[in-house]
Amino acid sequence: MTLTVRAPAKINLHLGVGAPREDGFHPLTSVYQAVGLYDDLTVRDSDGWSVDVTVADWMDRDHVPLAGDNIVDRAAALLAAHHGTAMLGDVHIEKAIPVAGGMAGGSADAAAALVALDRLWEAGTSDDDLLALAAQLGSDVPFALVGGSALGTGRGEIVQPVEDAGTWWWVLVPSPIGLSTPEIYRHFDRLSPEAPSTPPMPEELLAALANGDADALAAALHNDLQPAALDLRPDLARLIEAGEAAGALRGVVTGSGPTCVFLHDSADAARATAGELGAKHDVVLVTNGAVAGAHTVSYV
Ligand code: C5P
Repeated sequence: MTLTVRAPAKINLHLGVGAPREDGFHPLTSVYQAVGLYDDLTVRDSDGWSVDVTVADWMDRDHVPLAGDNIVDRAAALLAAHHGTAMLGDVHIEKAIPVAGGMAGGSADAAAALVALDRLWEAGTSDDDLLALAAQLGSDVPFALVGGSALGTGRGEIVQPVEDAGTWWWVLVPSPIGLSTPEIYRHFDRLSPEAPSTPPMPEELLAALANGDADALAAALHNDLQPAALDLRPDLARLIEAGEAAGALRGVVTGSGPTCVFLHDSADAARATAGELGAKHDVVLVTNGAVAGAHTVSYV
């Protein structure tokens, strides 16, 4: 059997971050949106276990973790242990989600691996169990399973779909140099000693999403990690300014950065901004959301 599961990148429309918990993680109130930029993970029957990775032509192969320290190995080991089965399969990952970009590319791979291996091993894992295994693998992995637009609470792993009446057009500008998520959270702690224990609910943003109102959504986009990311990478502030000057309704850092995302109310408007930003940035992508979570795209 050979099957391919596709999993989307996420952006954060809202990322509210609180003071660190006892376990070191930060309480989050996050609004995620899955966007049309994907990693594809193909699994085949095998007598052993292997993982290999190819990357989109615009990505730097050197920045992708190799088999062995890949989150896909951890996902497979966890699923195999859950069912008491052997960890067998040849896995091929085709990456197009920027690595260390704040877009949950590793989490997408983990979610895709859970869905694909569950099917390859005919394990019949329940949705609840898949979500619980996903949460053990990383805070963003459950969302990569669910997709769409969703509210994330806890450390981000408790995911609940939210109403979304819009088609949102995004220009994404990844950076050739990634940012370390733990480092950004540590810098947030230094910059925000008064952070609350529970970050507040982004009511205006949720209403804008439900109403499909692009101007209201633009005004409500917010990321508590952005000051930390801009402090470590002042070039991102200039990029956001340039995107907004080029016509974006709004630009923000997504997740822990450094990818910046720019909202538009039409594909044409997004393409116009991308054209201008493309003069100075090697990689400028146009996509839309919300799209589905990890799903099977081919099966033979
Ligand atoms: O859960 P995940 O493995 O994606 O988290 C990566 C790192 O990001 C954690 O080790 C932690 O430093 C930071 N993090 C955090 N609070 C969260 C999510 C992630 O501090 N809610």
